[in-house]
Amino acid sequence: MSVTATHKGGILALRNIEKTFAEDSKKLKVLDGISLEIGEEFVAILGPSGCGKTTLLRIIAGLEKPDSGVVEVQPAGARIGFIFQFPTLLPWMTVLENVALPLHVNGLSWSEAKEKARKYLTLVGLQSFEDFYPRELSGGMKQRVNVARALAIEPTILLMDEPFSALDPLTAETLRSEILDLWTWGVTTVRTIIMVTHSVDEAIFMADRIVVLTARPARVAGIVSVDIPRPRDRRSQEFQKLEDKVYELISA
Ligand SMILES: Nc1ncnc2c1ncn2[C@@H]1O[C@H](COP(=O)(O)OP(=O)(O)OP(=O)(O)O)[C@@H](O)[C@H]1O
Ligand SMILES: [Mg+2]
Repeated sequence: MSVTATHKGGILALRNIEKTFAEDSKKLKVLDGISLEIGEEFVAILGPSGCGKTTLLRIIAGLEKPDSGVVEVQPAGARIGFIFQFPTLLPWMTVLENVALPLHVNGLSWSEAKEKARKYLTLVGLQSFEDFYPRELSGGMKQRVNVARALAIEPTILLMDEPFSALDPLTAETLRSEILDLWTWGVTTVRTIIMVTHSVDEAIFMADRIVVLTARPARVAGIVSVDIPRPRDRRSQEFQKLEDKVYELISA
């Protein structure tokens, strides 16, 4: 069983996405003709700070409109989960309620929503913390709740915006492995992951393909395939060769 084969059936196509933010007389061109075809795969999007990565994810999720260009999702209406760059748990709700809320909003009764939420909290190892409040959790646990909440809506596409950048290095590494396990075991509904990151190392460690963006306005500088079996050894020659290749694209 493998869900990591690349280019297996189109799931998402971005065609010539353009975005300029305009306020008063200020104009800021952020995305300059982004085109991508993404299948059942794990794609990392790598680019310098402020180049438009979050904007691109928000456009994919339908939270923001491009000025021109189209986003095509197959099948139409496929659900999209989003793990945001900044914490978004509601402090007055318990862990269970935080995960159940979007399900309830989407039409499940509270008890159905909670049942499904429990299933996904178990998947991220938080089954015994369902009655805790976000303030009672460590950073890593909070991020696990975010993962559970995104998975619980049973999305086809999972968008992750720098999901590990606020965590200490050890916690981040644990969570990376856990997400890769869920991904390779195929125990979730997710067929496509798109992860924004600043980290070349993280991109090569996790992704099937890496899309390198230029500085703002973002264009696709190049795409690198990572054909190394998982779990990947950062000290291997092939890993380091790819690092060189990605850094070349970044500095081009
Ligand atoms: N709603 C908005 N209105 C006006 N400008 C915006 C808006 N959202 C983003 N921007 C600007 O667009 C640019 C790209 O922002 P974005 O958040 O997409 O970058 P990013 O690549 O995710 O950055 P980082 O790596 O720091 O998270 C930034 O200069 C930002 O100031
Ligand atoms: Mg961002």
